[in-house]
Amino acid sequence: MADLTTKIAGITMKNPVMAASGTFGYGLEFADFVNLEEIGGIIVKGTTLHPREGNDYPRMVETASGMLNCVGLQNKGVAYFCEHIYPEIKDIRTNMIVNVSGSTLEDYAECAARINALENIPAIELNISCPNVKQGGMAFGVTTDGAYSVVKAVREVYDKTLIVKLSPNVTSISDIARAVQDAGADAVSLINTLMGMVIDIEKRKPVLSIATGGLSGPAVKSVAVRCVWQVAKAVHIPIVGLGGIMTAEDAIEFFLAGASAIEIGTANFIDPAVTVKVAQGINDWLDRHGCTSLTDIIGQLEA
Ligand SMILES: Cc1cc2nc3c(=O)[nH]c(=O)nc-3n(C[C@H](O)[C@H](O)[C@H](O)COP(=O)(O)O)c2cc1C
Repeated sequence: MADLTTKIAGITMKNPVMAASGTFGYGLEFADFVNLEEIGGIIVKGTTLHPREGNDYPRMVETASGMLNCVGLQNKGVAYFCEHIYPEIKDIRTNMIVNVSGSTLEDYAECAARINALENIPAIELNISCPNVKQGGMAFGVTTDGAYSVVKAVREVYDKTLIVKLSPNVTSISDIARAVQDAGADAVSLINTLMGMVIDIEKRKPVLSIATGGLSGPAVKSVAVRCVWQVAKAVHIPIVGLGGIMTAEDAIEFFLAGASAIEIGTANFIDPAVTVKVAQGINDWLDRHGCTSLTDIIGQLEA
C-alpha cells in the first residue's frame, strides 16, 4: 500500500480524492452506495447567504463526452444549512467542506463567517467561478481585481482553510491564481465548468432555460490539466485539480501537472462509488510504478 495521505494547507486528507460541489449533494444522499469515510473529502452543495430557487428547467443536457448544466446554485441558504444540515453531517469522519457562493462581497463574507463558527467544517471552497448565475458568481472570478477583493473580504472573517475555486473562462488563469494567493487564499481548486451552449435546431431555441450553461465531464479534462499545469508554475499554495476525472489514470495526470489533491464531479452521476474506486486505483498505479507515496509524483511532469 502506497501512502496516499496529502495536505491541503491546514487539512490532512487520508487520500487525495474529494467529491466535487454540486455533484454529491451533502454526501448523505450517497451513503447507501459508498462508504463516505473512505473518501478524502466531500465538498457539499454550493451555499449562499440567502435561499436561492435556481434557474428554470430544463437545466441539464448531455453533450459529447460531457454535460451542460445551469442549476444556478439552488439551495436553502446558510442559516438552514447551519441549523438542519450541519447536525446531520458533522460526525462523518472525513473532511466536510462547504462550497460558498454569493452575489456581493458582503454576501460572501457573511456566509463564510457563519460557516467559520461550525467546528467540524475545516475549510470552505469559495466559488468565484459559477457561470450560471446572473449576478456575482463568475463575475468576481474573471478579473484579478474582482478575485482579489472577494478573497480579501472573506479572509478577514474566515480563519480556517480557504480554498478558492477558479474559473477556466478567463484569459490568464495564472494571473487570477496569483491575485487570490496575494489576497490570502490557502489553496486553489480548478476548474469550474466551461461556459457552453446547446441548440435545439427544430425549435431554433437553446435547450437550457437560460441559454448557456457550464460544461463538465471528460470533454473538459485536457483544458483542466492545462490550467493546473499553468497555475502550478504561478503560485506556491497547494492546488486541487478537477475537471473530467473518471479514472485513476485521469487523476494521475493532474498530480503530475502539480495538483496535491483532486475532485470528481460529473462521474458521480454515472457511478456513485467512483471516488473510492479512483482512490484505490491511484494506490494500485503507485504500487505498479514503484512509488511509496503520492508525494513522489506531485508536480513530477517532465516538460
Ligand atoms: C450539476 C452540477 C452542479 C454544480 N454545482 C456547483 C456548485 O454549486 N458549486 C461549484 O463550485 N461548482 C459546481 N459545479 C462544478 C463542479 O463542482 C466541477 O467544478 C465541474 O463539474 C468540473 O468537474 P467534473 O468534470 O468532474 O464534473 C457543478 C457541476 C455540475 C455538473
